[in-house]
Amino acid sequence: SEEKPLEGKKVLVTAGPTVESIDPVRYISNHSSGKMGYSIATVAKRLGADVTLITGPTCIEYPFFMDEIVSIKSAEEMYKAVLSKKDNYDILIMCAAVADYKPKVSAQQKIKKSAETLTIELEKNPDILETIGHSKKENQIVVGFAAETENIIENGYEKLVRKNADVIVANDARTAMGNDRNHVYIIFKNNSIVELEGTKEEIAKELLIKLCKVLQES
Ligand code: PMT
Repeated sequence: SEEKPLEGKKVLVTAGPTVESIDPVRYISNHSSGKMGYSIATVAKRLGADVTLITGPTCIEYPFFMDEIVSIKSAEEMYKAVLSKKDNYDILIMCAAVADYKPKVSAQQKIKKSAETLTIELEKNPDILETIGHSKKENQIVVGFAAETENIIENGYEKLVRKNADVIVANDARTAMGNDRNHVYIIFKNNSIVELEGTKEEIAKELLIKLCKVLQES
């Protein structure tokens, strides 16, 4: 219908940061607040979708009226949660700021202060978007984000191709993280680009309306 174009559709959204444990008291993470992903989840629900939110730890309230919320900490946990669910959704939107690397070992005991320098060895986390992009079913739309600090559109397009996403929302990590507003480039497979500036809810709405069109055309 006009007001509920996502009625009958199932949408999976990831949001927030992941945290990668160094020892029982320390971790590596990033500045994602969860606002962008929660706005998408909120607006998807308002547009009639059945919404599952998979979220890392945030300091903001969970969005209301979700059909399911899965709370995780690490990239590995988010990877497992997304993979176990991915087949059931029409649209998957990977907005989380997933840590690319994690400490190779998470120490059992608190690391003691002694030497002047301390080196923590990191190893790669699995790439959730890349995995689902390359195993998506027909008619499933996979949307990724790209948080860049330079060459935003070029780097976004490179991620679209490499991760086999249908759409990439590219934004400037420095201004996007934590703010209520965002400035994005929505990049489609045919290399058409839509530039948007506004509140995260406004951007979420425009994005979801565009995704409805992609669904109709697929
Ligand atoms: O949470 P906010 O404060 O509102 O900030 C919003 C945001 C800046 C976090 C959001 O708009 C955004 O850009 N999210 C993606 C952040 C990110 O991890 O970007 P990336 O360019 O490093 O990763 C590209 C894509 O791959 C993303 O869809 C990411 O979810 C995914 N990824 C990355 C690494 C990994 N190991 N697995 C992944 O799935």
